[in-house]
Amino acid sequence: MSIIFSGIQPSGNLTLGNYLGALRNFSKVQKDNECYYCVVNQHAITVPQDPQMLHERTRTLAAIYIASGLDPDKSTLFVQSEVPEHVQLGWIMTCSSYVGELERMTQYKDKSAKQGDSIPAGLLTYPPLMAADILLYQTNLVPVGDDQKQHMEITRDLAQRFNRIYGDVFTVPDILLGHDGTRVMSLQEPTKKMSKSDDNQTATIYLLDAPKDIEKKIKRAQTDSENSVHYDVKNKPGISNLMDILAAVTEQTHEQITAAYADKGYGAFKKDVADAVVSVLEPIQQRYTQLIHDPELDKILEKGAAKAHAKANVTYQNVCKAIGL
Ligand code: ADP
Ligand code: NA
Repeated sequence: MSIIFSGIQPSGNLTLGNYLGALRNFSKVQKDNECYYCVVNQHAITVPQDPQMLHERTRTLAAIYIASGLDPDKSTLFVQSEVPEHVQLGWIMTCSSYVGELERMTQYKDKSAKQGDSIPAGLLTYPPLMAADILLYQTNLVPVGDDQKQHMEITRDLAQRFNRIYGDVFTVPDILLGHDGTRVMSLQEPTKKMSKSDDNQTATIYLLDAPKDIEKKIKRAQTDSENSVHYDVKNKPGISNLMDILAAVTEQTHEQITAAYADKGYGAFKKDVADAVVSVLEPIQQRYTQLIHDPELDKILEKGAAKAHAKANVTYQNVCKAIGL
């Protein structure tokens, strides 16, 4: 049995990337492990958010977690800001971090470049807050997409650095990657990851997109003029991305897909990718629609926060004792 923690930001509408890279793996591991899943709303405010939207998206994300298969009786589901130990330990982890190592983070470089001259300091101190999220639960494994590898490395570094100075306070966590470390790319710029914070909505499949929109977006996805379905990330990033999506959704290999489309063109291939995506998303959308207006959702989050707080507080008290606070 392992302790598992993961979080997603309520910073936009969830995408197929979030599902295949993260969400889908959450329910797979919950049966035999102690799992904590968090809506990381304090991470979301590292860039400006509309208050009303942030509030709504927090609840929407919680409903999507459950609609995607997370069972609140087996896993602890909660909102980050409801458990004060996250920012409390976050501050201590910030004090254990070096500015140089934080400035080297790819996500910081990407996101700060979009902020002009006024870069919020929270973008820089995002990784120590993420480390706190994870370390509070004495987490062994963190199911995240492969875009989070660098943040997981710094989390491990911070835990080891702290343990070296103050004794064995933290468990040092490992990353848990899903199916082939799936990274879903933008449908329009397939060398860039699909992200809920991308402004180009035609490049992104949202989990709550209507089937006809999913078909339209995949039909218009950028490809190449070869009309041959085979895997070549460098020269055929668009087709390779669609193959990755189909492979992840239908659990087929690239070879099986190439063989199946040997004498078919992109039109038929794209139609099948769209159908496969719709067939996994439709049941999630149906469960989501039932949940979102159910007051039970608020009770689940309240219970989850109480459970998370009880566990997090034990670690936090140990940390305080260790450093003399
Ligand atoms: P986003 O980048 O869409 O805002 P988050 O940073 O909130 O998403 O990440 C939530 C989870 O979804 C993380 O585990 C991350 O690794 C995963 N994830 C995000 N985008 C993708 C993607 N395009 N492919 C695979 N996994 C992804
Ligand atoms: Na992100």
